[in-house]
Amino acid sequence: MQDYPQVALEFMNRDHAEFVVLRARLLELLSAAAPDARVDKLLGELLAHTRHHFAEEERLMQETGFPPYPVHKRDHDHVLADMTTRVERWKQGHDVPALKEWLDRDIGDWFVSHVSSMDFVTAGFIKAQGKDRP
Ligand SMILES: [Fe+2]
Repeated sequence: MQDYPQVALEFMNRDHAEFVVLRARLLELLSAAAPDARVDKLLGELLAHTRHHFAEEERLMQETGFPPYPVHKRDHDHVLADMTTRVERWKQGHDVPALKEWLDRDIGDWFVSHVSSMDFVTAGFIKAQGKDRP
């Protein structure tokens, strides 16, 4: 995965770092000879983490009246729906290459581009409104 920028809000940077660790641990497990139930557990954590993080960003955007809120929210909704589908699919078929490719490529690319654009701008706006945490 490419580098991603730090944004103006510390809680977001912390969450982003946590996301990166979860993703890396999943990829590591999926490279093992026989991925076990830890993958399911970590996927659940990734989904919960993402849902919580998005909700906090969205609450702050609404509280501060961030004008492009709908655009940012739409990207969150899209990713959460996709992530939910992928997790369900994994539970049904345990298709290692499919999950690995999605995490490695799709999620990696999405994360870098989302943090570099929407999160970067959003964090700067929220901070300028005098808020720094949810
Ligand atoms: Fe975001």
